[in-house]
Amino acid sequence: MNAKNRIALACDIPLEEALALYEKVQGAVGWVKVGLSLFVEHGPLAVQAFRDRGARVFLDLKLHDIPNTVELASARAAKLGVELLTVHASGGELMLKAAEHGAAGKLKVLAVTVLTSLDDAAVAKVGFSRDASAQAEHLAELAAQAGVGGLVCSAREVVAIRKTHPRMFLCTPGIRPVGAASGDQARTETPGSAIRSGSDLLVIGRPIYGVDDPVAAAQAIHDEVAAALKG
Ligand code: C5P
Repeated sequence: MNAKNRIALACDIPLEEALALYEKVQGAVGWVKVGLSLFVEHGPLAVQAFRDRGARVFLDLKLHDIPNTVELASARAAKLGVELLTVHASGGELMLKAAEHGAAGKLKVLAVTVLTSLDDAAVAKVGFSRDASAQAEHLAELAAQAGVGGLVCSAREVVAIRKTHPRMFLCTPGIRPVGAASGDQARTETPGSAIRSGSDLLVIGRPIYGVDDPVAAAQAIHDEVAAALKG
């Protein structure tokens, strides 16, 4: 698959700005991630605006509720024409199955394992007994058993998860090119290293929209991904 289809632009900025940015970087970025801020403000219109411009849309709502509620939301999301939808793996097996049932094969459900903003100390504070990587692997297993075909994890966990789940679609936020500010992300990797580890889709926000020259940044990330894909 070409490099641009391995990159999702996390549009955590106002819609008008996000649309203008997508127009400028679409040669380097194939996917747009509509997350909580855009969806809370604009709802399905945010999805439609990017679809109208030819983007593949990833709806990152990180659903976490009782199975019936998640199934209903997943079924509605499937009608919006998005290809990917996130739910929290920690919602449990029945909730994960409900998300798949609602999606009815019209989109790929991605189970979020452990947020990339959490380091081991933060994971312990939540009350999990495992460290971040072990907890991510544990939740990957739960998601796989529930029949979910994709995961969100840190690129640092991709090699281990891939060994046990070779066919899982692995999506990795927390991507930071060399020298980029990590912000609130804790478990980060560079674009090239994430691809070499076997990540299927890199989610990248601030290292593109938050820098002085987003077009140059997107192109540089694209070229780093392309070089890693060539090996
Ligand atoms: O700006 P940055 O590159 O850190 O953006 C990462 C994006 O990925 C954000 O939109 C965030 O909501 C999302 N995300 C994440 N960690 C997860 C799942 C999603 O950072 N585990």
